[in-house]
Amino acid sequence: NPLQGAQFVLAAHRISQLPSDHGAEVAFAGRSNAGKSSALNTLTAHRGLARTSKTPGRTQQMVAFSLPPLIQGEGQPPLQARLIDLPGYGYAKVPEALREHWKLEIDAYLHQRRSLRGVVLIADIRHPLKDFDRMMLEFCFATHLPCHLLLTKADKLSRNQAAQALAALRKELAASGTQATAQVFSSQAPTGVEEARDMVMTLLNT
Ligand code: GTP
Ligand code: MG
Repeated sequence: NPLQGAQFVLAAHRISQLPSDHGAEVAFAGRSNAGKSSALNTLTAHRGLARTSKTPGRTQQMVAFSLPPLIQGEGQPPLQARLIDLPGYGYAKVPEALREHWKLEIDAYLHQRRSLRGVVLIADIRHPLKDFDRMMLEFCFATHLPCHLLLTKADKLSRNQAAQALAALRKELAASGTQATAQVFSSQAPTGVEEARDMVMTLLNT
């Protein structure tokens, strides 16, 4: 597993507190309770790395995890690699002021972060894409930022239903013109873990 050895670095309330903007970074975004933190734990094979919860709104900061450095070509120094767990958006019980703060910070992060190589967008396979998901897809497309969609909690559906949900989603992505890729995923089953790890590594090496 190329994502093994991930370590907690820090939790940031604003982007200025994040690790210095060098190396390569992949951010995990998605609606509150979609399963972002669980996906991070599954992909890094590190139970308890990112805090998860039944209660939406668990992750209230941008949380940075370091990965083993990426080996580059002859004569080039290894590249720092990180994963970032973003706060979930769309959770109504989080106070309006905090939601607004996160909207601005996530927006600034996506616009300004030079080490950001791509976004892993996490969505519940049982729910259609919501406004926030669409905004993220459109933003990534407009700024040429690669985006990979994990349709998670696939364990809640039959294999057939999951395949149908993926096909419908891919159709929608194609129709909307966004270049995002998508796969079925489950942190619980687990399902699609190798494919997702490969994609994260591809993004980091982009
Ligand atoms: P916030 O930090 O609040 O934005 O949520 P999050 O997106 O980080 O979600 P988290 O990983 O904390 O998971 C939310 C809930 O969904 C928890 O109860 C998890 O156990 C559950 N969950 C996450 N992934 C899966 C999955 O693949 N299958 C099932 N059945 N449950 C899952
Ligand atoms: Mg979380």
